[in-house]
Amino acid sequence: MAHSKAFQKQRRRIILAGVASAGLAGAGWMKPEAIRSGHSSYFKGLQAALAHSGLATPTLVLDQQRLDHNIQVLNHHIGNAFGYRIVVKSLPSLPLLERVMAGTGSQKLMLFHQPFLNLVARAMPDADILLGKPLPVASAARFYQEHTVSHGGFRPERQLQWLLDSPARLASYEQLAKQQQQPMRVNLEIDIGLHRGGFTSAESLVPALRHIEQSSWLNFSGFMGYEAQIMKSPGPALWLRDRAMARYQYFVTTAEQTLGRSIADLTLNTGGSTTYQLYQGMAGTIPANELSAGSGLVMPTDFDLPTLADHHHAIYIATPVLKLLDRTRIPGAPGLGWLQSLWNPNQARAAFIYGGHWKARPVSPAGLTHNDVYGHSSNQEMLNLANGVPLNEGDRVFLRPTQSEAVLLQFGDLAVFDASRGQITNSWPVLREG
Ligand SMILES: Cc1ncc(COP(=O)(O)O)c(C=O)c1O
Repeated sequence: MAHSKAFQKQRRRIILAGVASAGLAGAGWMKPEAIRSGHSSYFKGLQAALAHSGLATPTLVLDQQRLDHNIQVLNHHIGNAFGYRIVVKSLPSLPLLERVMAGTGSQKLMLFHQPFLNLVARAMPDADILLGKPLPVASAARFYQEHTVSHGGFRPERQLQWLLDSPARLASYEQLAKQQQQPMRVNLEIDIGLHRGGFTSAESLVPALRHIEQSSWLNFSGFMGYEAQIMKSPGPALWLRDRAMARYQYFVTTAEQTLGRSIADLTLNTGGSTTYQLYQGMAGTIPANELSAGSGLVMPTDFDLPTLADHHHAIYIATPVLKLLDRTRIPGAPGLGWLQSLWNPNQARAAFIYGGHWKARPVSPAGLTHNDVYGHSSNQEMLNLANGVPLNEGDRVFLRPTQSEAVLLQFGDLAVFDASRGQITNSWPVLREG
């Protein structure tokens, strides 16, 4: 019988791991130390709070004080100089958004998903919403079908800015506006170095602006230029920032010359969690007048960057240990688990946890590691640990999500942890797909 590709791949991984472990253990080079400290007092407190609340399924925990700390840090850096726009995809829960809105005094939201747009427009009638990506025109049509305008409710023609990235999308949105007899505010996506689409030059921008000016249905509401490349591309961040802002200025100058008026009072959006601190003290010297950020308020691991060094980790996945085995065994490779543990003593034992395969990294007890040879499981993931780590079946292990937007939606309600009281004090529903 021919072996499947997956089988062959697994066999190759086992052989390579065996050779590598034996070789490295023999060489004694950069050998990891066993970490046996177990949970810190913070995680012991969190574990006790979860047990007290009877939360025994995989749970997304949000630390309320750390969230509040991050909100204060963000307020300090942004001050009153810029508007602040809350990135909803990174904080996808209405009570969480309400807390951030109350803590920052901002009603400005950035949305990326039509079902969430309808939910937020219904729940937050005073919100000022900018789309963070250009949605298919059919999604925009769906928004209007599902949105009912009630007295005192959300008025899309005043409170919503669709994001348009090309002349073709502009034409299709104008047609929709006409069909719906619904005036629309439109914000144009500009490419200031990320190269993720949007308008790239005056040649395409000028006709688009003239088109909007002449339209009875569309109103130009500003620009959105995202610049995540600043913290990802090689080169000094401040130089990349200045290049992005010079590019932004080019689009603003082009628009002001085309329209014959200042656009300084329109929505000129930029920034994200990884860059917002780079603009401290720069209001008035750069064209953008508002900054977006979301993930930095909860701090998944992808955001462990120097520009967010004063933010605290505020989200964890907590999940029970179902089984604890006193040695690591790899199916079909007798002795390989032992060989792995010779090299890395943190692979001596195996814990099988409730769930797994999330976009997340194990963080507590310290030393907990994933076994690349054994692989992932969404049902019962294997994690390895050293002999002597104080951990029992039924205890929790903790992981940090690598990103918030997908992971926060995977666990049902967020368990809100108040560390000062050592209690889970609230359960915050996450946004549900339509
Ligand atoms: C247009 C736009 N602005 C801002 C952000 C920043 O979001 P966050 O602060 O969660 O990284 C993103 C993230 O993808 C984005 O697409």
